[in-house]
Formats: sequence, C-alpha cells, structure tokens
Amino acid sequence: MDPTSYEARDAHSVIHGLTNLQLHAERGATVIERGRGVWVTDNHGRDYIEAMSGLWCIALGYGNERLAGVAAQQMRTLAYYPLTNHKSHPPVIELAEKLLAMAPVPMSKVWFACTGSEANDCAARLAWYYWNAVGQPGKKKFIAHKLAYHGNTIAAASLSGVGYAHDRFNLPLPGFLHVTTPHHMRHARAGETEDQFCDRLIADIEQLIAREGADTIAAFFTEPVMAAGGIVVPPRRYLEKLHNLLILNNILLVCDEVVTAFGRIGEMFGSTAMGLKPDMLVCAKALSSAYIPISALMINARVYDAIARQSDAMGVFGLTMTYSGHPVAAAVALETLKIYDEMNIAERVRKLEAPFLGGLNRLLEHPLVGEVRGKGLLAGVELIPMKSEGETRVPFDPKLKAGPLCARIAEEQGLIVRAIGDTIAFCPPLIINDAEIAEMLRRFRIALDLTAAELANAAG
Ligand SMILES: Cc1ncc(COP(=O)(O)O)c(C=O)c1O
Repeated sequence: MDPTSYEARDAHSVIHGLTNLQLHAERGATVIERGRGVWVTDNHGRDYIEAMSGLWCIALGYGNERLAGVAAQQMRTLAYYPLTNHKSHPPVIELAEKLLAMAPVPMSKVWFACTGSEANDCAARLAWYYWNAVGQPGKKKFIAHKLAYHGNTIAAASLSGVGYAHDRFNLPLPGFLHVTTPHHMRHARAGETEDQFCDRLIADIEQLIAREGADTIAAFFTEPVMAAGGIVVPPRRYLEKLHNLLILNNILLVCDEVVTAFGRIGEMFGSTAMGLKPDMLVCAKALSSAYIPISALMINARVYDAIARQSDAMGVFGLTMTYSGHPVAAAVALETLKIYDEMNIAERVRKLEAPFLGGLNRLLEHPLVGEVRGKGLLAGVELIPMKSEGETRVPFDPKLKAGPLCARIAEEQGLIVRAIGDTIAFCPPLIINDAEIAEMLRRFRIALDLTAAELANAAG
C-alpha cells in the first residue's frame, strides 16, 4: 500500500467496527468520497449502488439539498441548546409533537438521544425506573431474541443476542435473557409447520417466564422484523401470541424500530405492519435519514405518568445527555419527516416491494440461493450449498465464508451489500427507482455466478 494513500493512512489511524482489525491492516479500506442518490463513489472514481443505505439508514439517499440547507440554517439560528433544567427550543418541541402525532399507538412523551444503542439503553433504564416507581422493584430482567441486534452500549449489547457483541467483552450482563430466533427455516424441527413452530416458541417463552418468575421480568425487546440478525420476518401468529403472553404476565413491550420505522417495511412503523402495540418505541437511523445522529424513544402514558411521579418524589429525573434533542438534529429530523409525508413514503415502498422482492425471489432458481426473506425494501438472500441435490436447509461450512465472499465479489461489481453470515442483506435507500432496482439485481446475479464459480474452484 502506498503510505500516502487514504487506504494506508486509514489503516494507520482508524479503528473499524465489525471488521477483522488484523486483516484490515493488510487489505485496507474501501474509501468512499461522495454520494448522490443511491450511488456512492470511492477515491479511485469507482461507482457503487449502495444497496445497504450505509448501515440501514440513509433512507433519502445522498446529496439531499433540503436537509443540508435546514442543518446550515439551524446552525446559524441556534446551534445548540440543552433540554436540562426546564430549558427547551422550537425544533425539539415540533419534532416531539410530530412523532407523537405519527406514533402507531397512543404515546405520551418523547425522549431524545443520538443513537439507537443509547435509546435502547434508555428504554431499559426507564423500564427499571418505571417498575421501581410502581412498587415492583423485583422486575429487573429483560428478554430479547437470539441474533437480535439492539446496539452496543453495555445494556444494548446485553440485549443483543449476538456473540460478537458479547464474547471477550464480559457481556451480556446478568439478567439479560435470550430466546429462540423466530426463523422457521433455520429453527423448526423436522416436519414442524410454521404454526406448530410458533406455538412451540411461545410455550418455551411461557416456561422461561414461569421459571424466572414474571415478577422478576421488566420488559421484552423485539424488532418487528429482525434486521442485523439476518432479515428474519417473524410470523404474525408468533408476535400476536408473544404480545398476549407479555400482557398476561405484566411485562412491558419495547419495539426496537431503529431499522423498521419510517416506511422501511411498507408502513410508517413496523409495529403497525406486524400488529404490535408497544409500551415504548425506539427509532433512529431514518429519523434523520442519517444526515445527522438522532434517536427517539416514545413512551406511553402508563410509563410516563409513573416516572413523572417518581421524579417528583426524588426531586429530579436523573437521565441526561448533552446532545439529547440537539436543535440541529431535531430540525433535520423534522424536515426528513416532512419529506417522507410529501413522498408518501410508505406507499412508495409498498409499490417498490414487488420489483424488489419479486426480483430477489426470482433468484431462488440460482443454485446458491436457499431462501429469500423480506418485507418492503428490506430483504435477505440466504446462500446455501448443494441445492442442486434438493437440499435447501443445510448451511455452508462457516469456514468457507461464502457470504463475505459474495459481498466482496458484489463490491467488485459495483454493488454494496452486507453479508450477515451467509445471508446477503439488502436495504436500499427508499428513493431507489425501478431502473436502479433492476441494475442492482443484475449486478447481484453476476456476483452470485462468480461466487458459485469461486466456491467450486476452492472445492477443487
Ligand atoms: C434494530 C437495531 N437496533 C439498534 C441499533 C443500534 O443503533 P446505533 O448503531 O445507532 O447505536 C441498530 C443498529 O444497526 C439496529 O439495527
């Protein structure tokens, strides 16, 4: 590597998440310099379709002048003001009102943070504060799904059900429990129908609650559709039964809509799409279309009224963050939500679902493709070996790293996707059009063919 290149300078100075740090020093970064619409361009002038919206977030694509303009204007008007000690400012008030008006179920108030992790962390903190406030201090444990990703602060990483966020990090903390991922293809027993599978998973959770004691469990966290866990769309029967079970056992439901909120799966909120009525709802990412960090935690009146009483008894509500409700972020988020309204974004996604998911489903004829999962403009294509022999459930040997190989080859073809194990994730900007979807599919099919050839070569 030329030591003056961005690649070498990056390797010398930057730590990268979800990256093999040793390998990174050898292969160097893909250095992206600019973006427009669904396209990004690297420092060698190569163009890529950004089919992952960065990290599931840049919903309005790159180069949105309105968002840039609003940020600059707000910086000039009031670049910063805190919300502590009874202070406020117009952008945060308007944004909170807008979110409450949009909420999928009646919500009472909004707490702001900068990232999805922080907002989930705050949701866990508020669940504890709530149960203390209502005289049930024993309710301290949390349940979430194996493979779910809820973020990477200590509490959010503990909620996450992924080994990479736990192993060697001394996590999860005690009291964070994980239940089976509701993914029929991977976790059903031989011959088990989807309904039988759902009923078994619910019975397992029921037993877990009985074993631990409902009076020890504070909240259940779930994504309406699991994103970083490999794009798992839980069966509605499962979510409905889960919700009933939580109500029966007086356990709060927190919906992590960090990926699904604002149209991604064809409704403004994933909770609506999946029939969930959360007590708390977390959103981030598309809230500002990733133009600036901001997240929001909406809480219902049951929770808010109790914590307000508690703060009165204590003299202060002790949760505070310097950048909670930052005026520039709030102004950009407000403008983002206006644009979604103008574009009728959820309807747009519903229209694009057919060419997008239909096109990916047509790839099921490819020998490497075992399952296509998704909803709206969120999808996962699971690669499997030996399909030609009629077997669609046996995974690749993880040592082959078939998914990362395919993602690397796709990148060489000018298509940025993400490998989650051997599932290739797609989460394109919501502004993508039919022609760009067709081009994305064309490049991906070539990547699949080249991956199959390379795997065949490696097998000798
Ligand atoms: C569902 C979900 N929750 C929470 C997070 C964490 O958000 P952040 O990376 O902004 O902390 C993510 C990030 O990808 C996510 O996908």
